[in-house]
Amino acid sequence: MLVSAKEMLDKAKAGHYAVGQFNINNLEWTKSILLTAEELQSPVILGVSEGAGKYMTGFETVAAMVKAMDKELGITVPVALHLDHGTYEGCYKCVKAGFTSIMFDGSHYPIEENVAKTTELVKVAHAMGMSIEAEVGSIGGEEDGVVGAGECADPNECKAVADLGVDMLAAGIGNIHGKYPANWQGLSFDTLDAIQQQTGTMPLVLHGGTGIPADMIKKAISLGVAKINVNTECQLAFQEATRKYIEEGKDLEGKGFDPRKLLAPGAQAIRDMVKEKMELFGSVGKANA
Ligand code: 13P
Repeated sequence: MLVSAKEMLDKAKAGHYAVGQFNINNLEWTKSILLTAEELQSPVILGVSEGAGKYMTGFETVAAMVKAMDKELGITVPVALHLDHGTYEGCYKCVKAGFTSIMFDGSHYPIEENVAKTTELVKVAHAMGMSIEAEVGSIGGEEDGVVGAGECADPNECKAVADLGVDMLAAGIGNIHGKYPANWQGLSFDTLDAIQQQTGTMPLVLHGGTGIPADMIKKAISLGVAKINVNTECQLAFQEATRKYIEEGKDLEGKGFDPRKLLAPGAQAIRDMVKEKMELFGSVGKANA
């Protein structure tokens, strides 16, 4: 069931768990994530970066695929189709394509411009019944070409952006996209605590979910994080399982070259990863909570 992310995230924040955003790249990714969410009766957010949207030939293709798949698989759990790190123009494209949620990443603009553009997009999104995420303080590392330095967000700026009526707020707290380096200092819980004190019931978003240890994830949820984004970890799981299949020569046995067989171990690995994350985030069984 395609819905905006607002209700599922408000419930997660109040219930002290988090909903996973898993980024999609193609049909296999989408199917694996939807089937796992249904199996575990968990709400879920499908994240689409601008690069992945382009790869899948455009946001209209993505929206049509997700809507049709949701229907044909008989998915009953709440599913939000969300633009990840959207540009101003990308947000408008996703509104037109029929996404149910957008993220406007204005973190690289001066705060005044981020506020002005976010204000405009909040009106547009809400008029369409869509939810909207804003970002303050860039997330470090690289996400599909979007590069951030990884600073900690200013809690006062977070309050200013939260007050614009956004439905969820991503704030940098030392998190980065991709794998964490060996000398990573960990999440700044003091910053997160200060942000939550300023933003109250606003669901907070933790980007860069890949590789954050379980105890830090749990602490972040206890301090108001209600949405956690995972991308790289599913890519690595898919890659590892596919590599194993080929290295074991399974593609050379019988009809092992059939793409449905070749991609099956990777698809299963994504399902296992999504399951592990949903259990860690506490969203299992929360579809109708
Ligand atoms: P990772 O690729 O580090 O899991 O981050 C995903 C993300 O934050 C998407 O916005």
